[in-house]
Amino acid sequence: MNRQKNITPRIVGFLCNWCCYGGADLCGVSRFQYPPYLRVVRLMCSGRVDLKFILRAFSNGSDGVFVGGCHLNDCHYNPEGNYDALIMSKICIKLLEHIGINPERFRLEWVSAGEGIRFADIMNEFSRKIKQLGPLGTSEGIDKKELAFKLEAVGKMIPYIKLWERERLRIPVRSEEAYDNFFAGKDLDRLFDETIADKLAVSQIMLLLKDTPLSTNDISEKLRLNPSEISRHMINSSRHGMVKYDTASKCYQRVQ
Ligand code: FES
Repeated sequence: MNRQKNITPRIVGFLCNWCCYGGADLCGVSRFQYPPYLRVVRLMCSGRVDLKFILRAFSNGSDGVFVGGCHLNDCHYNPEGNYDALIMSKICIKLLEHIGINPERFRLEWVSAGEGIRFADIMNEFSRKIKQLGPLGTSEGIDKKELAFKLEAVGKMIPYIKLWERERLRIPVRSEEAYDNFFAGKDLDRLFDETIADKLAVSQIMLLLKDTPLSTNDISEKLRLNPSEISRHMINSSRHGMVKYDTASKCYQRVQ
């Protein structure tokens, strides 16, 4: 526990130029203390933060990622960019949970340019949480290689995830409550399992088969998934011409 307290966490913060960055600036001018190791990336709007920025930050060794935007309904762009950030963050949290990364390593907050003290409070609290969790992967029990593999597999799915979001995740009412209710609903879990979870499993399988042919059991062991589930994915992938089965070695290989 003490060792974890002494680490210097790597935290990246994507801040909207018009509000949260102003809040960070005010925080500095007012001499409020916040962690000096926060690496700030200034963007014009929190809606510009793409899922791949978050994944890349984690892949490049960040232990925590923060996104700060204007308060809801105060965004300077139309349609409200921070609602886009909100939906991106909800998807990000589900994906992190799914691949075994503690979602508390990611945080989205609204901070206005006049809320320097609020910025300091949030960053100090977030930093304490990340210190408590330790370097990425330690509290999760995932080694660096597996972590990189999982993040790469999710990264490859980003175009599909965006399409899924556009087609299936339209929330008619622009309010935080409506978004929270939508993402807390069981229907979304079902939709996620049926679409994203399955595709993510296939994405991981294709990555595994990139270097060497593998049997169903090998794949099942490496991904810690049920062999019957792997068989189902392999049958579907064969039908789509993505893999072929070699009867002599009893292994699947990827069709390039
Ligand atoms: Fe700040 Fe859009 S301009 S969140």
